[in-house]
Amino acid sequence: MSNIIECNNLSYSYSNGKQEMPVLQNLNLSVDQGESVAILGQSGCGKSTLLNLLGGMDEPSSGTVLINNTNLAELSEEKTTQLRAQHLGFVYQFHHLLKDFSALDNVAMPLLIQGENKQTSKEKSKQLLESVGLKNRIEHLPAELSGGERQRVAIARALITNPSCLLADEPSGNLDAKNALDILELITDLNQTQHSSLVIVTHDEKIASKMQRVLILENGQLKQS
Ligand SMILES: Nc1ncnc2c1ncn2[C@@H]1O[C@H](COP(=O)(O)OP(=O)(O)O)[C@@H](O)[C@H]1O
Ligand SMILES: [Mg+2]
Repeated sequence: MSNIIECNNLSYSYSNGKQEMPVLQNLNLSVDQGESVAILGQSGCGKSTLLNLLGGMDEPSSGTVLINNTNLAELSEEKTTQLRAQHLGFVYQFHHLLKDFSALDNVAMPLLIQGENKQTSKEKSKQLLESVGLKNRIEHLPAELSGGERQRVAIARALITNPSCLLADEPSGNLDAKNALDILELITDLNQTQHSSLVIVTHDEKIASKMQRVLILENGQLKQS
């Protein structure tokens, strides 16, 4: 099997203490190594919830999530974190950069966490920031960058570990058309040059049309578009 991500009969409900609110209901998905998938769906249909489950940031109410053929439910929290760090990169709608750290330090962080030495981490991060067009912004803090630049830093941070799969939650959702296109190019390049899988949540049909497969999340399940 070459699935990087697989989920079977995945269900998830939020509970407010009194009431259960089902969001995902017996959802199935498998993503091959190297495959690119767009997930479209109306606001509130559960797209972010799904990505959080795929990334092991949250636990399903029922059903299973497998990353690289390993069932997350069978792993300790620590092992889940390791598996995630080894295989997945995340890009959020809002960059989630650490505000007191430079672009360089934000990008280097995942490598340092993996135990890479400081010098190598910084060198690799510098190269990657250059390749996303931020050569002259390396020492800038997030507050000193434009929205598009911040999102490029966030993408570099997600890519620095060469993840087998990139999970992106509306990565260009808060950017103008030009910046959104640049971000899309960066992400699709990765898919082609590194054979990484992509799972992109978007409401932009143009972005979706560049992916090999387009799925729609509706009534808690994924359907072919
Ligand atoms: N922490 C939470 N507690 C309760 N309900 C939530 C929570 N997070 C999201 N929801 C609800 O779950 C549904 C799906 O949310 P979400 O996955 O963020 O949707 P999307 O990303 O597709 O816009 C929405 O109706 C939302 O209001
Ligand atoms: Mg969302």
